[in-house]
Amino acid sequence: MKLLVTGGAGLLGSEFVRAAHQRDGWDVEAPSRTEMDITDASACARVVAAASPDWVIHCAGFTKVDPAESEPDEVMRVNRDGSANVARAAVAAGAGIAHISTDYVFDGSKGQPYLPEDPVSPLGAYARSKVAAEESVLSAVRAGRTPSLIVRTGWLYGHGRRDFVDLVLDRTLAGDPLRIVDDQWGRPTWTRNVVRAVLDLIEAGARGVVNVSDGGTATWHTFATAIVEAAGLGQLPQAVSSRDYGAPADRPLYTVLDLAATEGELGREMMPWREALRVYLDERSSA
Ligand SMILES: NC(=O)c1ccc[n+]([C@@H]2O[C@H](COP(=O)([O-])OP(=O)(O)OC[C@H]3O[C@@H](n4cnc5c(N)ncnc54)[C@H](OP(=O)(O)O)[C@@H]3O)[C@@H](O)[C@H]2O)c1
Repeated sequence: MKLLVTGGAGLLGSEFVRAAHQRDGWDVEAPSRTEMDITDASACARVVAAASPDWVIHCAGFTKVDPAESEPDEVMRVNRDGSANVARAAVAAGAGIAHISTDYVFDGSKGQPYLPEDPVSPLGAYARSKVAAEESVLSAVRAGRTPSLIVRTGWLYGHGRRDFVDLVLDRTLAGDPLRIVDDQWGRPTWTRNVVRAVLDLIEAGARGVVNVSDGGTATWHTFATAIVEAAGLGQLPQAVSSRDYGAPADRPLYTVLDLAATEGELGREMMPWREALRVYLDERSSA
């Protein structure tokens, strides 16, 4: 199996690259942004055709939720138009495409776990661009015969790049008081577990929209507290409401993804987030 990973230097993409290297008989290419800017349709077509992958894993994107509010055109250009370019290039090369999407396609008002088929209702510029990206990928693959997966995930942390765990630990160690929102619910998720699930789903022949995250639920404050406690640090974060925190982008208050279909397809349960966090922190401290 040969993969081409976009955004292979990013938090999630780098974990795909690492995992593919470790799987027997798998091969992977991860063009840099300079080699394959996803907003450049001809670069996408050329690089994907030359690599001739079985699957394109599309992780590249404009991922900063708050800055997206002041750059709505740019976030659309990268996420919607760039994803269309990547998907068309995959179709032309006869490759499958796994497009990484987000739990933020929902507004959180359901109040119970979101199913893949639930209607989307994005709140901010980033979220709207990710809904548009899903639509552009689906429209490109409809025009061809390419297998596709739209992978909805969220609340990621992992080894690839500075993440929420780094932020919490660095600020706590510096004695900098942390205010963390305690009214947004989701599933903290280790990139390692997303990657393993997505590669297994591809091998199992899964198609369509799939939810992939670790198990259990938390608020950002619960998650941050677990990080501080696991590190044996004393100063716990202060809980604040989203309103009092006042981030530029509106975020959904509840984006727990329903994992039943994914777990059925995989034949196993996703790892509970507290266990995943423990394993991740152990790996970091022994590195
Ligand atoms: N992080 C999360 O909690 C989360 C949650 C839900 C969904 N997602 C989705 O998961 C995917 C990966 O996110 P991530 O957290 O790994 O993001 P990330 O660490 O910010 O990585 C994004 C990657 O995209 C690349 N990129 C940006 N613009 C590009 C362009 N025009 N052409 C080519 N490459 C470009 C970046 O390149 P550089 O290396 O040059 O910066 C980077 O390697 C994204 O689609 C994101 O929307 C993330």
